[in-house]
Amino acid sequence: MSFKGKATIITGANKNLGKKTAIAFAQEGSDLLLHCHSAKSKTECEQLADELTKRYGIRSTVYQGDLTEEKANKELFAQAIQKFGKVDYAINNVGMVLRKPLAETSLDEYNTMFNINTKAAFLFLRESANKLADNGSVVMLTTSLLAAYCDGYSLYQAAKGSVEYMCKALSKETKRRISFNCVSPGPMDTPFLYGQENDQRVAFFKTQAAAGRLTEVEDIVPIIKFVVKDGHWMTGQNLFASNGFTAR
Ligand SMILES: NC(=O)c1ccc[n+]([C@@H]2O[C@H](COP(=O)([O-])OP(=O)(O)OC[C@H]3O[C@@H](n4cnc5c(N)ncnc54)[C@H](OP(=O)(O)O)[C@@H]3O)[C@@H](O)[C@H]2O)c1
Repeated sequence: MSFKGKATIITGANKNLGKKTAIAFAQEGSDLLLHCHSAKSKTECEQLADELTKRYGIRSTVYQGDLTEEKANKELFAQAIQKFGKVDYAINNVGMVLRKPLAETSLDEYNTMFNINTKAAFLFLRESANKLADNGSVVMLTTSLLAAYCDGYSLYQAAKGSVEYMCKALSKETKRRISFNCVSPGPMDTPFLYGQENDQRVAFFKTQAAAGRLTEVEDIVPIIKFVVKDGHWMTGQNLFASNGFTAR
């Protein structure tokens, strides 16, 4: 229960990495605002919040919304502060991936990629910088592809790369004791990856990890916990958690 008395916002908390992070933070006693994007996942998110509240005795609340909108980000933080009195930790999972040659990419695809990966991150970071409690910590999910030289992921790399540099700037600009860091998983065993990749490339990714497998969400959750709990001296960093897939 090392997060007892803490309050955490987790975006994209209804599935995959966000959901596993929510469960782990609840196990440690943190109050939770669980965010989900689509209206159809709200019930699922509410059920998770109820289950975690009953099992771990935490307080929880759910916010559903499109975080590319400024209003939604303001409401997200306002709801957490109204419910818990403060926010200590803010974990942002919002993301979208596209594997496509740049020369074939439409302007609409470009705009969607930057809205979801970069604009939503900017709005989340700005609210975090203004609303988090002292000794707070922000973790932004980026990608180990930021250390790769490869084809196909130009917009994903460009959009997530911007998140890293916003974090770095904030870590220097803040006058408060808030740390801003990124965590960059390797190719992770979720539908997010499989939508873009074929079997041959997934098999190749496995050969590039020391353990000979994809990154699992369970590999990343302890790193997020470490950053917010014991990693406070570290700020403006990007932790590449890919088992050797990429590094810098
Ligand atoms: N899986 C990988 O290989 C991998 C590797 C490295 C880094 N990452 C990063 O890790 C994070 C979590 O990924 P994951 O694999 O766990 O997949 P995921 O569950 O699909 O995570 C992405 C989340 O972003 C949400 N989202 C998309 N558009 C949104 C919007 N406009 N407003 C609010 N939320 C929005 C999605 O909700 P909906 O689906 O309901 O729209 C989803 O909850 C992402 O940031 C991803 O870039 C993933």
